[in-house]
Amino acid sequence: MSEILAINGGAKAVSALPGRFHFGKEEKAAVDALFDDAIKTGNAPGYNGPEEEAFCKEFAEFMGAKYADGTNGGTNSVYVALKALNLPPFSEVIVGCITDPGGIMPIVINNCIPVPADTAPGSFNTGAKEIEARITERTSAILLAHIGGEPADMTAIMKVAEKYNLPVVEDCAQSHMARINGKNVGTFGRYGAFSLMFGKHMCTGGQGGAVICNNEDDYWNERRAADRGKPFNLPAGSTNCIPALSCNMDEFHAAVGRVQLKKLPDIVARRKEVVDTLKDQFMGNSKSVSIPNIKEGFDHCYWWWRLKFNAEAVNCTKDEFCAALVAEGVNVIPNYTGALPAQMDWFKNRAQCHPWNNPLYKGDAHKEYPTPNCDQAIKEHFILFLFESFGEKEINMLVKAFKKVEAHYSK
Ligand SMILES: Cc1ncc(COP(=O)(O)O)c(C=O)c1O
Repeated sequence: MSEILAINGGAKAVSALPGRFHFGKEEKAAVDALFDDAIKTGNAPGYNGPEEEAFCKEFAEFMGAKYADGTNGGTNSVYVALKALNLPPFSEVIVGCITDPGGIMPIVINNCIPVPADTAPGSFNTGAKEIEARITERTSAILLAHIGGEPADMTAIMKVAEKYNLPVVEDCAQSHMARINGKNVGTFGRYGAFSLMFGKHMCTGGQGGAVICNNEDDYWNERRAADRGKPFNLPAGSTNCIPALSCNMDEFHAAVGRVQLKKLPDIVARRKEVVDTLKDQFMGNSKSVSIPNIKEGFDHCYWWWRLKFNAEAVNCTKDEFCAALVAEGVNVIPNYTGALPAQMDWFKNRAQCHPWNNPLYKGDAHKEYPTPNCDQAIKEHFILFLFESFGEKEINMLVKAFKKVEAHYSK
């Protein structure tokens, strides 16, 4: 007899899980120092100041890039990177179909047409073949996210990009310290765009972001794109050179970010330990759940963990399985539909809107972009959220919940 599931009125396997404990005295001290100085001098900390300069230097170095600029959000990081590329209006930007709305909408804000590419088979990330299938004479760039912290296949993607001479922007909002053969994602393409909002591995506060690159001209273009076209590094007397938004990071966020960056390696290492322990104790030899393959040399940083649901081993649906886990107190979602922006109204209704409705757009505004690999991957997988703050107690409770639900539904 299996235990009574919480969903059927039994006791929950997982009592309250802890928060992330993002911040400690160190972040508070960094911000206090800025306030103390402001109170003493009568001058508020601004932006483009010494904290941001230090943060950018440290962030770039940490990621293995030459340059970084702080921004006020991940969406704006993507906007800045695309703006800095100065893409022709009404050109097409190919974008992985699984992404946050903030990882696609900046294409439209830059007067370009987003073209969703399918995921690679069995993956939430787009792949080289799927990108190549969407390339037309109108394509001007490729934008892809490393979803959930799992690196996309950058070696193959960069080969396609080079073949067609297309710049690549890597959206690293979910993938701080995800690596391929030791190289951080975000350093393969022209720009790496990061979100540093509070839900990410490291944050600068409630919101924040950064854009990295390796080429000096790209860097100055990025600075101008992030700050209303200010004539950074242009001859004296130059005036604002492009129309752009204000996406600046401020000194308070930079100060918090500097402390958080020091914590990032431990955060990622701890998440890996949590995953490894869960693998040893359940996922590695479970009937109901299996672990998707990850390529040799690819380092997942586990913003969350994508798991495969083995429908043939149990007598319930994935939704029922996940609902039972949620009732036990496990933080899972059965479908990552919140990150299918091309299935949302803004995209469905696009044909009537700028830039699709402009006669200068030479493509088909009504074109459908089928994504069968993505549909299949969404169908087969669910997502488990885990925090670096989980210790033995939390892991034991999670294992207990999974075992209980599996035992109940096992064939
Ligand atoms: C892939 C991706 N891109 C962009 C964003 C937008 O970042 P932000 O919320 O910091 O604007 C997110 C946010 O989760 C994301 O996951």
